[in-house]
Amino acid sequence: MCGIVGYVGKKNTVEFLLNGLKELEYRGYDSAGIAVLNEKNSDSNIEVYKALGKLVNLEEKTSEAIKNDFNLGIGHTRWATHGKPTELNAHPHLGEYSYVVHNGIIENYKELKDELMQKGHKFVSQTDTEVIVHLFENFNNQLNDPTIAFKKTIENLEGAFSILLISKADPSKIFFFKHGSPLIVAKGKDEGEALFASSDAPLIGLAGDVVYLEDGVGGVVTNGEIEFFSDDYKWSTLPASKQYAQKDGYRFFMEKEIHEQSTVVVDTMMGRIKDNAINFDEIDESIIEGINEIKICACGTSYHAGLTASYLFERLSKVKCNVEIASEFRYKEPLLTKDTLFIVISQSGETADTLEALKMAKEAGLKTLVVCNVDNSSMTRTADFSILTRAGIEKGVASTKAFTTQTVVLWMLALYFAKAKNTISENKMQEELHALREVPKSLVVYDFIHEKCKRLSKRYLHGHGFFFIGRDVFYPLALEGALKLKEISYLHAEGYPAGEMKHGPIALADPELFTIALMPENLLYDKIKSNVEELSARDSTICTISPIPFELSDDYIRTNKFDHYMLEFFEMLVAVQLLSMEISVRLGNDVDMPRNLAKSVTVE
Ligand code: F6R
Repeated sequence: MCGIVGYVGKKNTVEFLLNGLKELEYRGYDSAGIAVLNEKNSDSNIEVYKALGKLVNLEEKTSEAIKNDFNLGIGHTRWATHGKPTELNAHPHLGEYSYVVHNGIIENYKELKDELMQKGHKFVSQTDTEVIVHLFENFNNQLNDPTIAFKKTIENLEGAFSILLISKADPSKIFFFKHGSPLIVAKGKDEGEALFASSDAPLIGLAGDVVYLEDGVGGVVTNGEIEFFSDDYKWSTLPASKQYAQKDGYRFFMEKEIHEQSTVVVDTMMGRIKDNAINFDEIDESIIEGINEIKICACGTSYHAGLTASYLFERLSKVKCNVEIASEFRYKEPLLTKDTLFIVISQSGETADTLEALKMAKEAGLKTLVVCNVDNSSMTRTADFSILTRAGIEKGVASTKAFTTQTVVLWMLALYFAKAKNTISENKMQEELHALREVPKSLVVYDFIHEKCKRLSKRYLHGHGFFFIGRDVFYPLALEGALKLKEISYLHAEGYPAGEMKHGPIALADPELFTIALMPENLLYDKIKSNVEELSARDSTICTISPIPFELSDDYIRTNKFDHYMLEFFEMLVAVQLLSMEISVRLGNDVDMPRNLAKSVTVE
């Protein structure tokens, strides 16, 4: 996820910005840039430096600038969402005389860009961000008042936008606004010093009081004096520890990422649900023309997202869909026909088996699409089409938010194909879109669920194994729950289709076999209930996760009521993630870096 820093004051501005960006490195980025100026120079030149890749590249470019006397600047690390990771697409973005850094996504950027181009504005990047600075200059050219121009700019933007903007039109100012992504403004320790950052870490030790801006709050810093446009702000103090700040106060990155899920899916969906339909800038409906089958290939958690999607592609888009583990697919001499759309799913875009499977499909002349979290990865460079999941960097080795955002993208894709193929009624489409809009709510980490998982975890530290069971899309969710538990607790766990237990595995049932049963209200409830009854009759210890209490459960994690099974799916996902994490904590394991595992598996 992108990072923002800003500075006004007497210290070395370039140094502050570079150090600040380093503190934000843990959030992941593919390019970085700064814009600095000295407001006392009569021509108030803004100097800008941008570099692809790691911050050392930017440091090299600024090695001369660091000696100069700038007193105001803005900086940014970018994680590509609109437009490739290139120097031109890196922030800060320039108009004729102003620069902006931005976190978030401007939903109406296309409309604004068209209007501004008609008025003669020239765009150089592929980003949504560039419209902000042109819109600002458009208003300022008319009004000759940068503060009013900034306010009018904000009024005309839709989507998520946390912004810092500087302009030669008034070089004593940094304009700021927060909507969606986090932004903090702070008083410096010296007189006339103000600092900005998108999270605590760059400010710790350097700032005095801070305001964690609420959505819709903005203002302007003039010569170090902070002024807000409204009264909706509150001064507070910073946490003392940087490590703690990087994890946003959570114990582990995994915990932070579980909590982030409800916000990152908003980014995943942003601009993609439009005019009561699904819209992807990255593809058009021709992608499904002549296609009679979808084949999905992936590994691990990404494979589970693919398996979930296979139910949705068949149910909603009425396209035959099969899913394969990439390492199996590669050597089975697969039959590939050109009426197949080949989809690979990968958080990193670098997993060796998935990448090779993709190359095989390309060589066979199939249309290929990757659902990926990292632009410019090997897979996004190889596939014909890429859809980014916009989860931001995932630090915990056990994948959480990557799976969630993949599943949301694939659900949207199933609806997109359904519309293109005319396999869905208007009513059903609206029902599905309504459910999609509710996804962020279903991913909130409710205290009562987390507390229950914490309490229950102490009962699940031994025994001879776990069976996670579910039906339909809750079967891949059972696989994912079991994988999470295995990865971080090192306990044996298996995911199984609930209806399949009686065909063998039920022989294992006894009180030391723990069954985690996913029992959604909106999908096959009675069927899974019978399967759980069968296990209970054989004395297995049963923990049910469901909105409906079940008299045979030994343990019960109550979930909220939702009217769509996918919303129950996401809430139960959070529950199994939390349960695994709390078991791992009690066992004293390293939650973020479990033994024997690597975040990206670039070997066969
Ligand atoms: C599990 C996990 C792995 C990955 C798998 C594929 O928590 O993270 O199973 O899902 O290694 O990785 P990507 O999605 O990067 O291709």
